[in-house]
Amino acid sequence: MQKHLIVVAHPVEDSFTMSLTRAYVGELIRAGHDVRVHDLYRMGFDPVLSARELIDGNDVHIRMVDVLVAQEDVLAADVVTAIYPLWWMSMPAMMKGYIDRVFSRGFAYEAEQGKVRGLLSGRRAAVVTVSGAPLAALVQDGRWQAMELLQDTHIFRAAGFELVGHLHIDEVGPALAPSTAAADLARVREFVRGHFASVHAA
Ligand SMILES: Cc1cc2nc3c(=O)[nH]c(=O)nc-3n(C[C@H](O)[C@H](O)[C@H](O)COP(=O)(O)O)c2cc1C
Repeated sequence: MQKHLIVVAHPVEDSFTMSLTRAYVGELIRAGHDVRVHDLYRMGFDPVLSARELIDGNDVHIRMVDVLVAQEDVLAADVVTAIYPLWWMSMPAMMKGYIDRVFSRGFAYEAEQGKVRGLLSGRRAAVVTVSGAPLAALVQDGRWQAMELLQDTHIFRAAGFELVGHLHIDEVGPALAPSTAAADLARVREFVRGHFASVHAA
């Protein structure tokens, strides 16, 4: 049994991103894993890193309660999965604010003489993203590689996680055909089964 923390950022409860999240969580539970979900919009997470937190945040007594709780959940997890749509090829500001505040210096990384050392090693991470554009178009002009470098490598690997996979579902828009959505959700379940073995397996 693995302990999974799912962090998801999408404002609309019946969006494709949230359906995908439910499929992901359902498959983990079916496989017998322990799952905790941080649905940042529904939790009312405050994504704004304040001056006080930035200046004194290294001091554990000054860290805000919401950040301390979020950090405890990261420490308790074997696997952290971040799920979000690509907005301007980046993460929604809500997810970025979670990273800014929760993956703080002294917790997720240390920096000395220009070198960053991740502090969350021993844990695995997965990233699941959604885009309107076809993946081939993103790869062709370099947007995909730029996004991977800045998000997969510079955030998750830099914090020390072993990134087990990045699942991307492309061409998701308002006119998504039900059959395409079903196939996409099947890919999500397959990703979970492929990376996180069931405790029920012999
Ligand atoms: C503010 C905003 C910015 C977006 N930027 C991009 C983008 O840079 N590239 C892209 O392919 N899709 C972009 N999209 C489209 C979304 O990724 C896509 O429509 C959305 O993920 C559909 O899934 P949903 O139903 O979960 O929202 C953007 C959407 C919004 C709302």
